[in-house]
Amino acid sequence: TILILDFGSQYSHLITRRCREHNVYAELMPCTTKLEDVHFQPKGIILSGSPYSVYDKDSPHVDPAVFELGVPILGICYGLQEIAWNLGGTVSKCEHREYGPADITTSKFGNGSVDALFKGLGDEMKVWMSHGDQLSNPPPDFHVIGHTKSAPYAALAHNSKPIYGIQFHPEVTHSPTGKAVIGNFILDISLDNGTPYISLIVPYLCLTTIFQEEFIGKEIARIREICGPKGRVIGAVSGGVDSTVAAKLMHEAIGDRFHAIMVDNGVLRLNEAKQVDEMLNKHLGVNLTVVDASDLFLSRLEGVEDPEQKRKIIGNTFINVFEDEASKIEAAAEAEEAKGGEAKGRVEWLLQGTLYPDVIESISFKGPSATIKTHHNVGGLLKDMKLKLIEPLRELFKDEVRALGRLLSIPAHLVGRHPFPGPGLAIRILGPVNREQVRILQLADNIYIDEIRKAGLYDQIAQAFAVLLPVKAVGVMGDQRTYEQVIALRAVQSEDFMTADWFAFPPEVLRKISSRITNEVVGINRVTYDISSKPPATVEWL
Ligand code: XMP
Repeated sequence: TILILDFGSQYSHLITRRCREHNVYAELMPCTTKLEDVHFQPKGIILSGSPYSVYDKDSPHVDPAVFELGVPILGICYGLQEIAWNLGGTVSKCEHREYGPADITTSKFGNGSVDALFKGLGDEMKVWMSHGDQLSNPPPDFHVIGHTKSAPYAALAHNSKPIYGIQFHPEVTHSPTGKAVIGNFILDISLDNGTPYISLIVPYLCLTTIFQEEFIGKEIARIREICGPKGRVIGAVSGGVDSTVAAKLMHEAIGDRFHAIMVDNGVLRLNEAKQVDEMLNKHLGVNLTVVDASDLFLSRLEGVEDPEQKRKIIGNTFINVFEDEASKIEAAAEAEEAKGGEAKGRVEWLLQGTLYPDVIESISFKGPSATIKTHHNVGGLLKDMKLKLIEPLRELFKDEVRALGRLLSIPAHLVGRHPFPGPGLAIRILGPVNREQVRILQLADNIYIDEIRKAGLYDQIAQAFAVLLPVKAVGVMGDQRTYEQVIALRAVQSEDFMTADWFAFPPEVLRKISSRITNEVVGINRVTYDISSKPPATVEWL
C-alpha cells in the first residue's frame, strides 16, 4: 500500500487514482495523521500539493518521523517544499507565479542515465505547474534531477536515501508523462521492481475484467453476510449509473428485501421517471417504487430564483418524501411481521451510492478551499429510523462503477450516461421554476440530446444539456413578430469536471438542433451556444 498524505490540494484524489491505474492500492490520509495511527506499513509515501505556503502561520506539516522511516518518499509541489522545509532547504515566493504548461529538462548523470524517477521518459517532458512558491535553495544532500526555465530546482533527489521532490503535478492529465513518473516511483522505487506487486493489489480496485468479476462476487457475498438472512434495505435511485449499479448489486444479493425508491421531483428530464421505472423494474428486476412528488416540489419552488435556495428546497423536500416512503415500507414490513407472514424482516439498512472520491472528500485534510456550490447529497437522512449505512461502491471511482455496470448487464446507454445534477432542471431554468418552464426545457433538452446521439457525438462529450434563459427576445415567425424565450446549449469535455472546455460541434449539427428547437418547442424563438470554459465559468449556469 502507498500512503498519500493530503495537504488539501484540489488534485490529491487524482494521485490515489493514478496509483490505482498502476494496480497498486493507495490510501489517502490527512497530512496531520500521526504515523502511529496509520494501520498499515506503507511501501512508499507521497506528499500532496496544498493551497498553503510552507511558511504560513497555520500551514499544515507532516509528522517529521516520516523522514526517518526509510520508506521512499515523493513530494509533489507543496510536498517538495515540505521536504525542503523539514530538511534544511529554503522556499520563497516566485517572481512569476507559474500556472499551466512548462517544459522540464531531466538531468543526465555521467554515464548518460537519468534518475530512476524519470526512467524511460526522455530528456524533456511537458508538465503542468500550479504554484506561487518554489525552492530557492535545496536542502543539503539533495541533487537536482530536473529543471525548467524558471525553476532551477523543479525536481530533486536525495544523494543516498529514496527521497524525491517535484515541483510539477504528475497526477493531472495535462502532465502527459505524469502517470509514468508516479509509476516509476511506486513500482520501481517503492516496490523495488522485483517485488511481485500483484500481491499488493486489492483485487477489485483495478480495472481489468477478471478483478471486476471478482469484485461483484465478493461484494454480493459481503452484502449477504452483513445483511444476514432477514432485514430489508432501502435506497434512493435516480436513474444515474451509480445508483443503478448499487441497486442492481443489492438486488443480486438480497432480491426483494431491497426496496428502491425513485422520487419524481418534477424537474427531471422528459419521461425520465417512466424510463427509470422500466429499466429498474422491468429490465433489471429491482423492486422499485416511483413516487410522484412533483406537485410538492414545484409548489415549494414557486417564485424562487436563487440557485442555492433552489438546491436547499429540493434537498430538503427530497428527504421528506423519501422518509415518508421509507416509513410506508417499514409499516408494511411491521404489519407483515405481525401477521407472521414471510420473514423478510424490518427495514434496517440504507443503501448509498457513495463513491471513493466522496470518501476522500470527507477524510482529506481541509484546506482553505472555498465552497463554490453546495452539491446536495442524502447525508444525515433518516436519523430517526437509525438505519445502518451500506455503501457497496465506496472503494470505486466512477469509471470502475461504469465497468461494473457493463458486467451487470446494465445497457450501454445508461452506463455511459452524462451526469445529471440532483436539483435537476431547477438549476437549468435560470428564472423561477414552474410546470410551463419545465415543459419548455424538457422538450428542448430532449431534442438536443437526441440530435447529439444521432450525430454519434454523445460519447465524445462529458456532459451536454440545455438551459432556459429568463429573457425574451424578438423573432419573426410567418408574418408575425414573436417575443419568446432563449435556450442556451452547453456541451463540455472534461475528465473530472474540475476543469472543462466547450465542445466544438460541427456547424451542421448545431444548425439542425437550433432549427428543431425553434420549430418544435413553442415558447422558444432563439438558440445560443455557450463557448465558455471552466474556469472561469462553471459547467452548470447556476
Ligand atoms: P459545476 O457547475 O460546479 O459542475 O462546474 C460540476 C459538475 O457537478 C454537477 N453539479 C451538481 N450535481 N448537485 C449535483 O448532484 C448539484 O447541486 C450540482 N451542481 C453542479 C454538474 O452537473 C457537473 O457535472
